[in-house]
Amino acid sequence: MVSAVGDIETAAGVLLAGGLVAFPTETVYGLGANAEDLAAVARIYQAKGRPPTHPLIVHLAGAEFLDGWVAHVPEPARLLADRFWPGPLTLVLRRGPRVSLAATGGLETVAVRVPDHAVALALLSAFGGGAAAPSANRFGSVSPTTADHVRAELGDAVDVVLDGGSCAVGVESTIVDATGDTPSILRPGGMTREDLEAALAQPLAVPSTSTIRVPGTHPSHYAPRAQVVLVEPEQVAAEAERTQEQGYRVGALLPASSGTGANVHAVVAVPDSTTDYARGLYAFLRELDQRGCDLIVASLPAAEGLGLAIGNRLRRAAGPRTSDRPVTMRR
Ligand code: TXA
Ligand code: MG
Repeated sequence: MVSAVGDIETAAGVLLAGGLVAFPTETVYGLGANAEDLAAVARIYQAKGRPPTHPLIVHLAGAEFLDGWVAHVPEPARLLADRFWPGPLTLVLRRGPRVSLAATGGLETVAVRVPDHAVALALLSAFGGGAAAPSANRFGSVSPTTADHVRAELGDAVDVVLDGGSCAVGVESTIVDATGDTPSILRPGGMTREDLEAALAQPLAVPSTSTIRVPGTHPSHYAPRAQVVLVEPEQVAAEAERTQEQGYRVGALLPASSGTGANVHAVVAVPDSTTDYARGLYAFLRELDQRGCDLIVASLPAAEGLGLAIGNRLRRAAGPRTSDRPVTMRR
């Protein structure tokens, strides 16, 4: 189902009036508010249950609207914006006067992006401002890739949900620190490192997953309810069956290419194409949660192309949990 023009005008009015609008992007659904309305921005944090120190991404209708939102666009940032916007790339730049510290968690920089989705662009154009929008999920859980995911998770906390179908990319945007002359990747995502490096004609530093550089990228982020266990691709079936025998209700993210099944509670055949895997990743994790799995056994794809982002999200999903979410045995 795709939103009609009337829906978009209504939603733009809701943004102008200080409300919350969930909208589709090519990566995941965003929970948008007028970035210049402090009360509206506060409502985002409240709806998500997100700590106010976690900065938000400001979404714009095009690179031509950057004025006022950023103080300065260094040459490499200009090149990346020209080449990849609209697209799954977020640039961190020095903040301009239109950006409040409430939206940046107190930082002097701001994250900006132009999403590549007709509904998002129509909304942003009709609204005319910048929409601060994190992924439209509760803090710490899996990002939504359909309008139903948003409704299931945020319910009445959001005023309007625009439905643009399933997100084409499926993982969040790649975040690049472009404040200086040497850009670096803060979060791998839907824009591949290889494409960025080719455009810049220089290598890009990528943080190791153990390094906490960006608030909001701490290890337990992007986590389903079930505990995630990572093993080598050829060990997924055996490890899933072993843990199921120990009494866990196990879901396996089994590489389709392995050609085997696994005799466990739930099996998802993971596509060999990383494009398809990224598109389905969060829906797979949600499905295994819904089917009552308390353990998910998975493997990491090769750390190239979209495999870098998929691996990053799986590692974080497998990361240490807070003690309020223990893994429980069923038998
Ligand atoms: O694809 C996406 O990026 C989606 C869609 C909705 O656009 N949005 C998204 O937003 O993933 P969120 O809030 O879930 O993640 C934003 C990330 C956080 O990790 C945050 O810490 C980082 O962006 N971030 C925001 N502003 C920053 C800044 N000034 N410096 C460094 N990191 C920043
Ligand atoms: Mg998020």
